[in-house]
Amino acid sequence: MAKGKTCFFCNECGYESSGWLGKCPGCGAWNTFVEEKIRPDSKGGNSFGFSGVSGVHSKAMPIQEIPLDHQQRTRSGIGELDRVLGGGIVPGSLVLVAGDPGIGKSTMMLMLSGHLAKQQRVLYVSGEESSGQIKMRAARLDICEEQLYIYAETSMDAIIAQVEALKPDVVIVDSVQTLADSTVSSAPGSVSQIREITGTFLRLSKSLNITVFIVGHVTKEGAIAGPRVLEHMVDTVLYFEGERHLSYRILRAVKNRFGSTNEIGVFEMRENGLWEVENPSMALLEGRPTNNAGTAVVCAMEGSRPVMLEVQALISGSNLTNPRRMSTGLDYNRFALLLAVLEKRGGYRLGACDAYVNVIGGLKLMEPASDLAVAAAVISSYRNVVLPEDTVCIGEVGLTGEIRAVSHIEKRVGESFRLGFKRCIVPGGNRKQLADMENVIFVQNIHELSSFFEKGV
Ligand code: TYD
Ligand code: MG
Repeated sequence: MAKGKTCFFCNECGYESSGWLGKCPGCGAWNTFVEEKIRPDSKGGNSFGFSGVSGVHSKAMPIQEIPLDHQQRTRSGIGELDRVLGGGIVPGSLVLVAGDPGIGKSTMMLMLSGHLAKQQRVLYVSGEESSGQIKMRAARLDICEEQLYIYAETSMDAIIAQVEALKPDVVIVDSVQTLADSTVSSAPGSVSQIREITGTFLRLSKSLNITVFIVGHVTKEGAIAGPRVLEHMVDTVLYFEGERHLSYRILRAVKNRFGSTNEIGVFEMRENGLWEVENPSMALLEGRPTNNAGTAVVCAMEGSRPVMLEVQALISGSNLTNPRRMSTGLDYNRFALLLAVLEKRGGYRLGACDAYVNVIGGLKLMEPASDLAVAAAVISSYRNVVLPEDTVCIGEVGLTGEIRAVSHIEKRVGESFRLGFKRCIVPGGNRKQLADMENVIFVQNIHELSSFFEKGV
């Protein structure tokens, strides 16, 4: 084998090395290196620069002389998607849509194509389904636009030829792992294939001003297969999340060159496609058990939007030497820490109990402001005392058992009252922001929270 023609890539992060390594210096993963042949003139690595896009070397310019490019965003026709993208689609951008298989990426992309094809020419390239299968799905979703072109193909040469012939405004690629570039010898889905293909679409999108959506499947570990290689090349990375057996799906931006990354979009998967959920709080709280111990409601912030979530806890006596702990939708270590604080500072003998916690609706509670609701659910289950169902708990729990102030408290309390809750238990530290509000109860520490379960709220 000629020297320099083969290279080793980390399957997790795309780190490139000339020899095999046991541990990746890039991401620290073990045994992830695979050997791949690269062609001598490969554009791999980071040579997808803009001089390559235009073909000529341009000149540096003073910033004052560069005209301000007021990019008109295109409305996608899906409000929640626009929100996540930062107000609409930026023409000529490259967007990666990643998610587990079967989560609804193809469905979303087909619906998006349907909306966009009302005004623009859209090419939907599928390497996974035949044209007939896509037509069936489209018929179910009631999509039949004149300007929507379906192309079932996996060869990059053929796809590039189609793009150049058709001159679409938008190209959808489903999925990048199924396409094959004939100049790369490794199998479809390998790091060098994905890198080459994304590079080609990047050049196409920047030179012809085409908006490209690339669908990518995620590996079991939660990374995009052949992964961060893609993340740094594209303008926007969207993750489509959710439990497959639950109908709610969350769309989240993890990188966005044209907007903020902390907005989420909420969808519901129904018989006839994905539906936007305009009021996620109402939807997520639907069917909440009443008059039961072990549940509490929190108002969490997802970007600029307050979302009400129900936390359930189950504490039961354990026969095991190491009692079981399980958390769904909440960081395991955070849960363990809260249990330790409740044991040490609150005097609850949780060390002898199995403890389970679950966030309803498939959303994840990432912020410390949800601590108080988790603590309330645990105490409620432990004591078997019901927390009134019209009560919301918001606050961070510190290691000494103190309840710490949280951000956006007015928004959270406002949303809670708007949705019909009657009482909010909040940190004493937030008193200033909520000075003239009624039905707000301030707590300083875990003891004060516990006392509600003795004398009632
Ligand atoms: P799909 O978009 O094919 O997932 P992905 O491209 O991410 O792999 O969606 C697959 C699931 O969605 C499948 O289990 C069926 C379900 N589904 C619906 O419930 N309703 C629908 O209208 C459609 C099209 C799919
Ligand atoms: Mg699919």
